[in-house]
Amino acid sequence: MKISFVLNGNKVECEIEKNERLLYTLREKFSIKSVKEGCAIGECGTCTVLIDNEPHYSCLTLSSKVNGHDVKTVEFLNSKNGLHPLQEAFIKEGAVQCGYCTPGMLLTAYSLLIKEKNPDINKIKEAISGNLCRCTGYKQIVDAIKAAHSNKNWDIIPKKQEIEVLKKKKEDILKALTENKGYKVIAGGTDLLVKERKEERKYNYIELSNIDDLNMIKEEGDRILIGATVTHTDLNKNEIINKKAKSLAIACGTIGSPQIRNMGTIGGNLVNASPAADSIPPLLIHDAICVLESLGRIKEIPLSDFIVAPYKTSIEENELLSCIKITGLYGYEEGYEKVAKRASLAIARLSVAWAIKEKNGIFEDVRLSIGSCTPMPFRPKDMENFLKGKKREESVIKEAVSMVLKGIIEKSGMRPSYRYKLPVLDGLITKILRG
Ligand SMILES: Cc1cc2nc3c(=O)[nH]c(=O)nc-3n(C[C@H](O)[C@H](O)[C@H](O)COP(=O)(O)OP(=O)(O)OC[C@H]3O[C@@H](n4cnc5c(N)ncnc54)[C@H](O)[C@@H]3O)c2cc1C
Ligand code: FES
Ligand code: FES
Repeated sequence: MKISFVLNGNKVECEIEKNERLLYTLREKFSIKSVKEGCAIGECGTCTVLIDNEPHYSCLTLSSKVNGHDVKTVEFLNSKNGLHPLQEAFIKEGAVQCGYCTPGMLLTAYSLLIKEKNPDINKIKEAISGNLCRCTGYKQIVDAIKAAHSNKNWDIIPKKQEIEVLKKKKEDILKALTENKGYKVIAGGTDLLVKERKEERKYNYIELSNIDDLNMIKEEGDRILIGATVTHTDLNKNEIINKKAKSLAIACGTIGSPQIRNMGTIGGNLVNASPAADSIPPLLIHDAICVLESLGRIKEIPLSDFIVAPYKTSIEENELLSCIKITGLYGYEEGYEKVAKRASLAIARLSVAWAIKEKNGIFEDVRLSIGSCTPMPFRPKDMENFLKGKKREESVIKEAVSMVLKGIIEKSGMRPSYRYKLPVLDGLITKILRG
């Protein structure tokens, strides 16, 4: 297959092989050796490139995906006579030792600084949270990024090079799914390409990039429609989701790292069906419905029935998850709590999505959903019903929490991890119900 894209400001073309990854294309076909393979599974950031000015891991990006897009590597920064002020700041602040992480760090920093003129320290830390440095230490790197912003002597907004993007239609995908038995749909690739790597095999893929029908968020009556290829970054930032499904916006903002959130999609998160998937608990409290399409047929299934076992859904081989419909909640307090081993790049050990409507100290409606505890995330409906119309007071909260904990043990027995998880869950739900 031939692809064309903009590389560091120049239009380029090349032939790629089946399942070729961008990391390989850049190193072997364009001799760009600043893009390096560290972990190859999306955890270190040494392979970071900018696609349309946003950081992505090139080790988990199919090269076909950048067809028609803008790709930048660190060479872009010093393409104009000498070092870029950001590079100079890294040297001045002592933010480079072995240099292995440096190209990726510079690119993520550059992406932040072209969007935010004066980011605070937390924003800088968040932006580089998908790039590991194992020798310099982060303080100097953060200081360098902070210092670079104050140097006004650089081209802040890069000019856009136009290149034709070949748009596909949903119908093309449905047809391909019918005609190509055994092919897998690939969206962001953050689950599939890790799996492919671990299994040392090559799947046949049908790609979901550049399909507008699948990449939208819109309202239809009291429902919100979310296209399956919407990324976690877009959900985290979207105005409708922040207003009417806040727990989903928060949950998507906790997934992986900025690079993983720019690549991973909500559809992929659901079809992968991990018990720890962050989008599932919030979607459950919003009564999510999965829209499954095959040629000439559309099916709607509640998310609670779509996931049938850990890592298993009821989707059929010729079906595409095209959209997720959720109910927007009005007048609720809403949130998402994730317990994990560290702040970034961490899978939930326990998670709770919640939405509470209360009037004059009385619970009108309580929605709760628990992830990463039982084989599948679930809503404790008996507790939700129990709380309806009850006063927000300690004895009621205590009884509600004990109903949840008892229900979990009845569902899945006393697992070894429950010695740790149940007391944590007790504390979390108590805190949430107390408000
Ligand atoms: C380093 C790292 C950190 C991560 N951290 C988190 C985390 O904190 N929380 C979390 O929940 N997940 C995490 N993940 C997992 C992953 O990023 C998410 O599950 C992501 O949402 C998957 O989406 P994707 O588009 O990349 O899926 P893909 O890898 O493209 O696909 C995943 C599965 O879904 C299928 N699929 C995708 N889209 C469709 C569709 N529209 N219709 C039918 N089938 C489809 C594919 O065939 C495949 O079986 C992490 C992954 C990595 C590598
Ligand atoms: S090589 Fe480690 S994230 Fe890509
Ligand atoms: S400078 Fe050595 S890993 Fe960051």
